Order: sequence, then C-alpha cells, then structure tokens
Amino acid sequence: MRFDIITIFPEMFEGIFSGGILGRALRKGLVEIHVHNLRDFATDKHKQVDDRPFGGEEGMVLKPEPIFAAVECVRESPQSPVYLLSPQGKTLDFELAEEIARHAQVILICGRYEGVDERVCEHLATAEVSIGDYVLTGGELAAMVVVDAAARFVPGVVGKAESVRHDSFFEGRLDYPQYTRPRDFRGMRVPQVLFSGDHKKIQAWRRKKALEKTWLGRPDLLSREALSPEEKEMLGQIQKERNKR
Ligand code: 6GU
Repeated sequence: MRFDIITIFPEMFEGIFSGGILGRALRKGLVEIHVHNLRDFATDKHKQVDDRPFGGEEGMVLKPEPIFAAVECVRESPQSPVYLLSPQGKTLDFELAEEIARHAQVILICGRYEGVDERVCEHLATAEVSIGDYVLTGGELAAMVVVDAAARFVPGVVGKAESVRHDSFFEGRLDYPQYTRPRDFRGMRVPQVLFSGDHKKIQAWRRKKALEKTWLGRPDLLSREALSPEEKEMLGQIQKERNKR
C-alpha cells in the first residue's frame, strides 16, 4: 500500500515513521510513504500556495491550483482515493481506517486550519477526514494518524500476536486489562484468576473485564451493538458488584 501525502510542512514527517511497527513495514516494503511539498506545485513565480479569502475575514486559504496539480501528478489511478484532512470531515474510526487500507494508493492532503478552497473539497477530494472534535493547526498530525491506523490493516504489517488482541475492537469492545511480572507490585496484585491455568476461566474473566471497561469508559460503543444474553448477565453482575462497594 502506498500513501502520498501533500503538505506545506514536509519536514514534519521526517523520521516520524521510522520506528516501531510502521518502520518495520516500510523496510519490508509492505507500505510506502511519499511526502510531497505543496510549494513545488505552485504555478506562479512567488511559489504562492495560499491567498486571502474572498468576502473578507482573517487568515489565509490554500489555493486550488497547486493542490489539483499535486494530486494530478502523484495519482497513479483514478481509483486512488483523495482524502482531505480537515476538522470538517468524517471522524476517523476503526471502519474508516479499514476502508482506507483497501486501496493500493491513497492520497492525503493536509489542510490548514484557516481553510482550503472549497473547490478542492467539492471536486477533488473523495472525502474529508477528521481525527476528532478539536482543532489542530494543520492536517499533518491527522495524516500521520490516518497512515498509522490504516497501515495496521495491510496484510503482514501487524504480527499475529498483535492482531489477535485488536480483535476486541472488531466487536465494539475495548481491550481487557493486561498484566506482567511482578505478581505483587507495592501491594498491587495481579488478579488471581490469571495464575489459575484454567484457560476457559481466564477467557470468561477477560470478556467480563472488557465489557466492564467498555461500559464504564465508552458506553456509547455498547449502545451501538446488541448485547448477547451472556453479556447482559455479565453486566448485571458487574453492576451488582459495583453497588456493593
Ligand atoms: Cl484532519 N485537521 C485539523 N486541522 N484539525 C483537526 C483535524 C484535522 N482533525 C481533528 N482536528
């Protein structure tokens, strides 16, 4: 899978993808990331990429010509989607990351917070993508988030052990709690069930804990998906236990 990122701050991407799982994927050639300086596609002699908004107001707006030129230059196929990173976009989630990862090439345009000429949104971008309800100074950090979240779905990027763990998010649940040595750290003990060797019991405990974490921290995830009778029973138990405290 190939990402082409169009930005006025290419230096922000230096070294950012060289570590960890993504770095390994790049070295293996499973993922390619190409960063393009929007200024290189400016058509006038001052290499201008932004201009004052029509109708007045503060701030500068990214001009359409360099963005269209950049996309037309890097796009390998009409099938390659073009995403404009902006706070006006659809919020990135698990499903959207997976959908983005289905393409051989994805083009990401980093917007500026003051704005991007609407003709880019309307006639060039496949969709606008946001990473949450807050405003960043530019789309660069958001583009990095999109690349990381989507790259995890490229076959071979994430190892087997790692992929099994994220399965829980497929079902709209947060992960269960994890522990490692020592068993007792300053009196904080690892739950006894994890030493039982009883795999079934451990699985049941993990399901219950994942449900509890989701119910307490992200109840919105639970309302989106139906609870199984077993989970309803578990939630009843969890509620009872909490009432006792
Ligand atoms: Cl994609 N861009 C900017 N500028 N701010 C954001 C965002 C994107 N997503 C959330 N906030």
